[in-house]
Amino acid sequence: MIYLDNAATSFPKPESVYKAMDRFAREDMANPGRAGHKMALAAERALDDCRHRLNQLFKGSAPERFIFTLNCTDALNMAFKGLLNEGDHVITTDLEHNSVSRPLRIMELAGKISLTKINADSQGFIDPEQIKNAIGPKTRLVALTHASNVLGTIQPITEVGTICREKNIIFLVDGAQTAGVIPIDIKAQKIDLLACPGHKCLFGPTGTGFLYSGDRVALRTWREGGTGGDSSTETQPKEMPYHLEGGTPNVLGIAGLAAGLAWVDQEGMNNIHHRETKLVAKLRSNLKEIPGVTVFGSDDLSRTVATVSFQSESLAAPEIGSILDEAFNIAVRPGLHCSPYIHKSINTFPDGSVRISPGAFNTESDIDQIIAALKEILSL
Ligand code: ALA
Repeated sequence: MIYLDNAATSFPKPESVYKAMDRFAREDMANPGRAGHKMALAAERALDDCRHRLNQLFKGSAPERFIFTLNCTDALNMAFKGLLNEGDHVITTDLEHNSVSRPLRIMELAGKISLTKINADSQGFIDPEQIKNAIGPKTRLVALTHASNVLGTIQPITEVGTICREKNIIFLVDGAQTAGVIPIDIKAQKIDLLACPGHKCLFGPTGTGFLYSGDRVALRTWREGGTGGDSSTETQPKEMPYHLEGGTPNVLGIAGLAAGLAWVDQEGMNNIHHRETKLVAKLRSNLKEIPGVTVFGSDDLSRTVATVSFQSESLAAPEIGSILDEAFNIAVRPGLHCSPYIHKSINTFPDGSVRISPGAFNTESDIDQIIAALKEILSL
């Protein structure tokens, strides 16, 4: 199998991630913080270690501000539902994934919030001025993806963060497609809420993710339950991370995520991005030579992650995806990618596009093979 669906979940993981999870499962997989025995303490240390690594990588204000979640969707729901109040106005964009669009739209339909959706330009970039112009007296939150999961285009979060801070608005960044490959600096970029999956560019397993909840926000609890430490209080402790982390966490997954973070640190984000960008350059130029193919997004590769979407005049995206899988053993993701609004904007709705997303372990030969396969499929 040639795996080119890393924008959904990175595969394979670094060997060190498999090893760390295997060791943890055999030796330390107890309940963190729930008892004083050696294994419980080792499990607690695994959580602490991961939180410290996250704080270091993303330059947060403290490790305990990083809340472990099931995935990025879980983190985003925790943020929206814990933050927004009756009458709030929220600004978002047509680039967002359904994990942002759906919870916000449901709150809008319920009459709780009002919503403004800013459209990206034809290449897939948001203009910060448009966000600035949409701000009104009731604007509480700007929710913006760091990079489109369809087009790969990286958004100007530093500029938007500055605007939000000047206007005293909470700034949420969805780091699903960038965390681990494009630097994110919570302090410098004035991010209040950062939601990320562990299973993409941070190389953790599925079932991991986190929400960074900064000092300017006090989220309502997401789920209440045991936290291990103070069992005497009737309600959830106010102390972070326990305020937002009821229940036994996915400590095995988090041990894997910590190993993924260590691997990213050792490889260097810039090196990973540089390697992926070379593959993207080759992919984009070769795709453009295939008759009837339209490649979306931007050719400015300094402003994109390794996600390339295209459409063909001769075959619909789902059919191309199936043929690549069945006849060539190549994995890509066709369709709407859970991001219907940007597909409407680029006129690929409802069939969507074919998304090819190389990762840290793909090679030039993988790109040669998918191009050869597509030439064969699309010349039929
Ligand atoms: N959000 C993931 C994707 O873009 C699953 O494919």
